[in-house]
Amino acid sequence: MKLLIKGGRVVDPANDIDAVMDVMVEDGMIKAVEVNILDREGTIIDATGKLVCPGFIDMHVHLREPGYEYKEDIASGTRAAAVGGFTTVCCMPNTNPVIDTAAVAAFVRERAVKSGIVNVLPIGCISKQLAGKELSEMADLVAAGCVAVTDDGQPVSDANLMRNALEYAKMFDLPVLSHCEERSMTREGQMHEGYYSTIYGLKGIPAAAEEIMVARDIILAELTGSHVHICHASTQGSMELIREAKARGVHVTCEVTPHHLVLTDEIVGDYDTDTKVNPPLRSAEHLEALREGLLDGTIDCIATDHAPHHPESKDCEYDLAAYGISGLETAVAVIMHFLVDKGLLEYSEMVELFTVGPAEVLGIDKGTLDIGTDADITIIDPAAIKTVNPNEFLSKGKNTPFKGMTLKGWPWMTIIKGRVVAQKGQLVNNNTKDLI
Ligand code: DOR
Ligand code: ZN
Ligand code: ZN
Repeated sequence: MKLLIKGGRVVDPANDIDAVMDVMVEDGMIKAVEVNILDREGTIIDATGKLVCPGFIDMHVHLREPGYEYKEDIASGTRAAAVGGFTTVCCMPNTNPVIDTAAVAAFVRERAVKSGIVNVLPIGCISKQLAGKELSEMADLVAAGCVAVTDDGQPVSDANLMRNALEYAKMFDLPVLSHCEERSMTREGQMHEGYYSTIYGLKGIPAAAEEIMVARDIILAELTGSHVHICHASTQGSMELIREAKARGVHVTCEVTPHHLVLTDEIVGDYDTDTKVNPPLRSAEHLEALREGLLDGTIDCIATDHAPHHPESKDCEYDLAAYGISGLETAVAVIMHFLVDKGLLEYSEMVELFTVGPAEVLGIDKGTLDIGTDADITIIDPAAIKTVNPNEFLSKGKNTPFKGMTLKGWPWMTIIKGRVVAQKGQLVNNNTKDLI
């Protein structure tokens, strides 16, 4: 099986490529990346005007299976990922049962092979039952294919447990992903604490609640010499702490979400519960600090924190609503529209944040168009314009604050191991036909 992707602008930051080239795929692998490949066998894809990139990776996705299939399952979540331009997703362990044993991790991987359509890499729990008391059996989780550990959804409030988690994780070269939240300061919090929380009359979540934990985790990473990764960094102070720690040589990495990069707390004023998320949408100064961090290398990658919820958990008063945004199907367009199209982020920077960035955090062999690797490819149409309609989402989670927004720059095609799985927002089952 051959596939020739012709005439696109190939953006492969890991190989320092940003030029009009052809990509040849054979037997599910990258065979050649060259100017004007003449071989015309197999399926030809005309990618003129498109960006041909290594497959995008989303390292922070809540697929909800097992246990919460009414919110999302591996079938629906991976289909959402595919049309969203992602070829690999990492799934979070706050399922039911939680992913704290090899058996549950193995179940997720088996389900992913049977019902998933993108690569799924499970992430295991730091603590048994996500209870924050006792460490999970990390060796078993690693043996079962987990690529990281986290108690995401919950902070690890016990500093000594976090220290021990970091010590153990180091033995397996495993990043420890930290949901940074000092709970004593965030309980009942609905939105970012600041001017708008006062105006809107909603209880605030201070930036300090995140930053205290970022500071603690940096100190613990330094103490243990281990790798801590800060999930969904959202504040100016977090940026400063991470930037300074990196400069000192501490092994700290971080991700940022599309929503924290482009939305501010002001929009909570409509009391649309789809704006309720944890950490909350912050003020404009924080957003600016994140954009700076994106450009100066403080931020390693963009991750969605895709958190699908059932309509019942959102169709209620703001203070009763669940936290979370369904992000897989808008992430690429949001970044393309608000940052790339506005000239705030180069193509190669954007691609890096979705490919080699997360691959390096996780230490996985993905995120490049290296010859001989899996042909996971994301093709983007920078000129495509579409209005976000959650009713068209393949995710069961329709909870998006981007609904109704018209965005420019959308995923055009998603290829996994040489198979076209999605095109222009639709799934593709038959990949033998010409797709010109
Ligand atoms: O908004 C959020 N939703 N933040 C979290 O930390 C958890 C997530 C979820 O699981 O719904
Ligand atoms: Zn989290
Ligand atoms: Zn999360």
